[in-house]
Amino acid sequence: MLNKNFTWGGASAANQYEGGYNEGGKGLNAVDVLTNGSNSKPRKVTWKKPNGETGATPLVWGADKFKLPEGAVPQILDDYYYPSHQGTDFYHHYKEDIKLMADMGFDVFRLSMNWSRILPHGDDEEPNEEGLEFYDNIFDECAKYGIEPLVTLSHYETPLSLITQFGGWKDRHLIDAFSHYADIVMNYYKGKVKYWLTFNEINAMDMAPYMGGGLIDGSEQNRAQGAHNQFVASSKVVKRAHEIDPNNQVGMMLAYSAIYPYTCDPQDQLLVMKAKQEMLFYSDVQMLGYYPTSRLKKYERDGIKLNDTPEDYELLKKYPCDFLSFSCYTSNVLTVHENDATASGNVSAGNITNPYLETNAWGWATDPDVLRIGLNELWERYHKPLWVVENGLGWSDELTSDHQVHDDYRIKYLKAQIKSMKDAVEIDGVDLMGYTMWSAIDLVSNGTGEMKKRYGFVYVDRDDHGNGSLKRYPKDSYYWYKKVIASNGEDLESTTLN
Ligand code: BG6
Repeated sequence: MLNKNFTWGGASAANQYEGGYNEGGKGLNAVDVLTNGSNSKPRKVTWKKPNGETGATPLVWGADKFKLPEGAVPQILDDYYYPSHQGTDFYHHYKEDIKLMADMGFDVFRLSMNWSRILPHGDDEEPNEEGLEFYDNIFDECAKYGIEPLVTLSHYETPLSLITQFGGWKDRHLIDAFSHYADIVMNYYKGKVKYWLTFNEINAMDMAPYMGGGLIDGSEQNRAQGAHNQFVASSKVVKRAHEIDPNNQVGMMLAYSAIYPYTCDPQDQLLVMKAKQEMLFYSDVQMLGYYPTSRLKKYERDGIKLNDTPEDYELLKKYPCDFLSFSCYTSNVLTVHENDATASGNVSAGNITNPYLETNAWGWATDPDVLRIGLNELWERYHKPLWVVENGLGWSDELTSDHQVHDDYRIKYLKAQIKSMKDAVEIDGVDLMGYTMWSAIDLVSNGTGEMKKRYGFVYVDRDDHGNGSLKRYPKDSYYWYKKVIASNGEDLESTTLN
């Protein structure tokens, strides 16, 4: 049995869900200049140069490098569609949505705060009152139903002004800006929010440097500095969080994927080892408080020089995160026996099909054992509490004429995932705080910018071109999850709705 304090819920991110991009005094963020795309057509960052030339640079998830042309300044252009601008309009539907979550029995709702809704330029001295009030209303609404908010301070929402002025997280100015922002919100919401995450999928810095770090030049040097600055900023937030309210708990957030060697060739095993070092470098620093030697040697080899101070390393050591949260959707397979991309050991660039698993339409394998494997790996390495804050299935759901969604494929996926997670706790003794499925309500896909790739328990009437009534319709999985929560994960087999 799971502990009776185990928390169940769902997750979201402001840039995919909230909308209201230019309402209530909000400034623009990194995603507000990102177009929609698809599996075969990457999202693009739109820009303009001082001489009036405009363009759009593809953002390929998994690319080692991303660079805007010289002089290009990211901005919104006519003739492009930007799905984040309206998301699925949580901004105007939050009461209805939180009620739907409450009816499902949520203990916890994971959401991110739009940094530029609080500080429109990212580094303003004074906060935007309307922005503070918006989240205050949300937390009050959650409290009404006994739902605990789990707040991500930055889920790819770097304020655009910090990108255009400083080139994103490569600049140490962002450490101070972020700490100031965190200080404001942790003071303002003291007693209303106690669970905080600093950076969503902090290892996105390596996989998607614009998304993860607002880097307009994703060179290895900038990625290394960007990661370092985020580590320092995160430790500062941990320190302040504990000073502001001893009940605060701050987690790190890792994009986790189990990585399997395709063959028993030791060369494949070495590839896997290398890929894991890349991924776990981030959690090593944030949970153990120091840089692993493999990363230091890599920087030495590659001639990377960090702009750092001795105090940075003292902070990292003294203020690691309180818990480790992670996203986990799938597993990846690597081998030297395929093409160059897979042989590079780059998980996101070179993923080959696992013959033992099914995949969804976007090529993501559904791995029934991945959570047990991941939870054990992270628990054995860090021995600190864990939290599964993203796990789910993207699918092109169909709304029937009587407004139902029969997503039995999602129920099947979740059943296996929850079983695997429970095994890690019940059989292996992993310390797990909770589970927030991605996503509570349908929202825009981060990777492709599509609405078609849906994850929620609740369908939102909205298409890839911005059409639709935005009406909400519970899917079959909504009723199924309600029973899972009511039984604290014991009743996974229920087939009756309502
Ligand atoms: C994670 C992100 O990478 O995966 C979310 O934290 C994202 O923002 C989720 O939405 C699913 O990915 P996608 O690309 O299918 O939306």
